[in-house]
Amino acid sequence: MRNVTKDLVVEKNLQDENIDNDSIALRAENVSKIYDTSAGKVVALDKVSFTIKKGQFVSIVGPSGSGKSTVLNMVGALDRPTSGKIYIDGIDIFSMNDSEIATLRNKRIGFIFQSFNLINRTTVLKNVKLPGIIAGMSSDVADFRALKILEALGIDDKKNQKPVNLSGGQQQRVAIARSLINNPSIILADEPTGNLDTKTGDDVFAMMKNLSHKFKRTIIMVTHNPELAESTDRSIMLRDGRIEKDVIN
Ligand SMILES: Nc1ncnc2c1ncn2[C@@H]1O[C@H](COP(=O)(O)OP(=O)(O)OP(=O)(O)O)[C@@H](O)[C@H]1O
Ligand SMILES: [Mg+2]
Repeated sequence: MRNVTKDLVVEKNLQDENIDNDSIALRAENVSKIYDTSAGKVVALDKVSFTIKKGQFVSIVGPSGSGKSTVLNMVGALDRPTSGKIYIDGIDIFSMNDSEIATLRNKRIGFIFQSFNLINRTTVLKNVKLPGIIAGMSSDVADFRALKILEALGIDDKKNQKPVNLSGGQQQRVAIARSLINNPSIILADEPTGNLDTKTGDDVFAMMKNLSHKFKRTIIMVTHNPELAESTDRSIMLRDGRIEKDVIN
């Protein structure tokens, strides 16, 4: 499954281009996204630019439809912008081909979604292992890492359960564990507490904050919750596809 040549190409790009500023995790430069729909063109993002430092915990806030998920999709290379550039660890990610982008995404970015996006027909352990196996980890190493992470998140006792049998908070912890298996430099979370009750949401958020501060992960989190946003390091507020405010909390 592992494409060693492609991996090497990505690693080489990383070495060649990671020269400008070691403390920068991510840079978006004039990123626009225009969707062509039957009802006409929708400008989801309009020349958005920002720089995020390594280890920063950033929240993205704004009304529904303001472009929050679109930003995350661009930054996570899930979709290409119509124009503009995204640099991750100094690499111009959209200068790469789709398969190189997929490798970078798998190795460097962890995703956490509102609806968990876990595979329900298999176990918690296998869900957490999967991105590791895709990245070329041996099953034993992936097992070892997955169990360590599940243990750290306090859900190792659920390793043989199917995700569907867990509570929302437990499922989100499994999704966090999965996002960490490849030791990503950036974690992207789209309303990770959106489907959880307040107490469980606060617990999941505390876990993410811990990841950010103790383990120096760069985290970008979309949230509708102003209190959670205020307890991140920085909040970027979007409106109509533009940055309306960018504040250090
Ligand atoms: N695949 C798509 N095709 C067409 N339009 C889209 C698509 N995805 C998003 N849009 C439009 O782009 C704009 C931004 O959408 P986006 O999903 O980024 O908003 P959001 O801020 O995440 O909203 P919410 O808080 O409701 O999740 C909206 O006007 C939306 O309708
Ligand atoms: Mg959204």
